[in-house]
Amino acid sequence: MIEFPPPPRPRKLDTRISILGSGFIVNDCHLPSYRAAGFNVAAIASRNSENASRVAAAHNIPTVHPSFEALLDDTSLEVLDIAVPPQHQLALIRAACARGTAKAILAQKPLALNYADAVTAVEVCAPPASR
Ligand SMILES: NC(=O)c1ccc[n+]([C@@H]2O[C@H](COP(=O)([O-])OP(=O)(O)OC[C@H]3O[C@@H](n4cnc5c(N)ncnc54)[C@H](OP(=O)(O)O)[C@@H]3O)[C@@H](O)[C@H]2O)c1
Repeated sequence: MIEFPPPPRPRKLDTRISILGSGFIVNDCHLPSYRAAGFNVAAIASRNSENASRVAAAHNIPTVHPSFEALLDDTSLEVLDIAVPPQHQLALIRAACARGTAKAILAQKPLALNYADAVTAVEVCAPPASR
């Protein structure tokens, strides 16, 4: 078996990560991995805010926003982790980029349900000058 070295550690561990969605992939995969890496998950929101609150309590996430929009309006957040079904992902990527607050977005695969929407999702992330 080929063994690969671990990826380099980021220079900064306190980057403020925010999460949209509170399902399996967030609860059982992303959050345990963020914790193991020592990353700073600062806020979460979900379609159903009770689900967001339950996941926040289980993983010690300090802020639960009452809606996706409220989280996207939080200008203190730096990285956005989107984990919702693919047909809803483009609208959230678009909304995040329109606000311009997130420095980086982690989106789930599949990026969209068709190629055109996937291309659009990438294009809306480009800085305004390069569009
Ligand atoms: N599970 C995996 O192994 C896996 C692997 C790779 C990629 N993915 C991708 O990641 C996505 C999420 O996976 P998951 O396993 O976490 O799914 P999940 O357990 O079904 O959770 C889906 C999440 O999306 C939210 N959501 C559901 N319907 C929505 C809607 N109409 N509008 C906005 N948000 C909605 C839900 O919010 P509420 O709970 O608040 O209702 C829930 O938090 C999948 O659809 C897939 O594209 C999953």
